[in-house]
Amino acid sequence: MKAAILRGVNQLALDEVGRPAPGPGEVVIRLRAAALNHRDVWIKTGHYAGLRFPIIPGSDGAGTVVEVGQGVDGNWAGRDVIINPGFDWGHNEGAQEPRFTILGLPKDGTLAEFIHVPICQLSAKSAHLSWEEAAALPLSGVTAYRALFSRAGLKAHEKVLITGIGAGTALFALQFAEKIGALPCVTSSSPAKIERARGLGARAGAVYAEAGWAAEFGRHHGPFDVVFDSAGGAGLNDLLDLIAPGGRLVFFGATRGNPPDLAWRKVFWRQISLLGTTMGSSADFAAMTEFVLRHAIRPVVSEVFPLDRVADAFAYLETGRQFGKVVVRIP
Ligand SMILES: NC(=O)c1ccc[n+]([C@@H]2O[C@H](COP(=O)([O-])OP(=O)(O)OC[C@H]3O[C@@H](n4cnc5c(N)ncnc54)[C@H](OP(=O)(O)O)[C@@H]3O)[C@@H](O)[C@H]2O)c1
Repeated sequence: MKAAILRGVNQLALDEVGRPAPGPGEVVIRLRAAALNHRDVWIKTGHYAGLRFPIIPGSDGAGTVVEVGQGVDGNWAGRDVIINPGFDWGHNEGAQEPRFTILGLPKDGTLAEFIHVPICQLSAKSAHLSWEEAAALPLSGVTAYRALFSRAGLKAHEKVLITGIGAGTALFALQFAEKIGALPCVTSSSPAKIERARGLGARAGAVYAEAGWAAEFGRHHGPFDVVFDSAGGAGLNDLLDLIAPGGRLVFFGATRGNPPDLAWRKVFWRQISLLGTTMGSSADFAAMTEFVLRHAIRPVVSEVFPLDRVADAFAYLETGRQFGKVVVRIP
């Protein structure tokens, strides 16, 4: 089969490899589309823990079951599915167990024609989604869902600030928040992306690259009950200023690195809850897919590339031009 293979840092190429066979309790899926996450960029550029090469990257995928392994009901054959990329979360809803892994490292991922996965990772592909939209959903969708609802407990009429709205995770957060009647605002590097976010329900937006943006924005639109962030870095102190007393900062990434000088006293004096979060449990994943189905949410697909242009798909994400998910169509 054809697959995108990383043979070392920044050594990504399309290659022929053996087609996987299903193990006991597993199925083989013929993938129709895969989607990239920032995680794939970190892995490709060598900025991720536990790297191993060669590896087929990719955490997100959608396709059709074409083969079932020992002990698997034959009725699975022919079903259209999406894959939950979080393996072995464990039984504690509060946090994943140490053996938790994410599809696409250490296990070979979705940027391939076929993949084998245990049936416990499968979820039905909703008929209202195209293959590209279905592939865009899993990792970013479950991360945004858990962050907003399981961790931050966002409620109707609460104000939520979602940073870096071009990100796949951020756009799911915007769509989810809007559906429950919360009041979302956004930030971005790009006024054009803010304008597009307004079309999806954002009340207002600010360009985070402009010096002093937070004070001005806070006067008009703050304070926020919840701030949803995956950028971290020096901008985090601005975000603390925008949170209401007793509010919550929910965060799951550090695209801009660690905050160099966190204003600790603002956190305790204003009774701010810092809520770290990562992906989601099987229960979060099931709740997320049910929510998406119930509200007929369609993931925002920024760009679609064919598998033989997978390197261009990575380059697109790396330059930060995306508004939503970068998807790879698998012919
Ligand atoms: N822990 C987890 O479970 C988990 C899950 C998913 C993602 N993540 C992490 O979360 C981050 C986002 O992932 P993703 O796949 O959604 O990313 P993505 O689609 O590649 O988007 C990255 C976005 O970051 C935004 N950004 C860059 N600098 C920023 C800043 N200073 N302030 C605010 N936003 C900034 C940009 O938004 P604009 O284009 O609007 O400027 C850019 O579009 C990554 O660091 C990723 O590793 C963690």
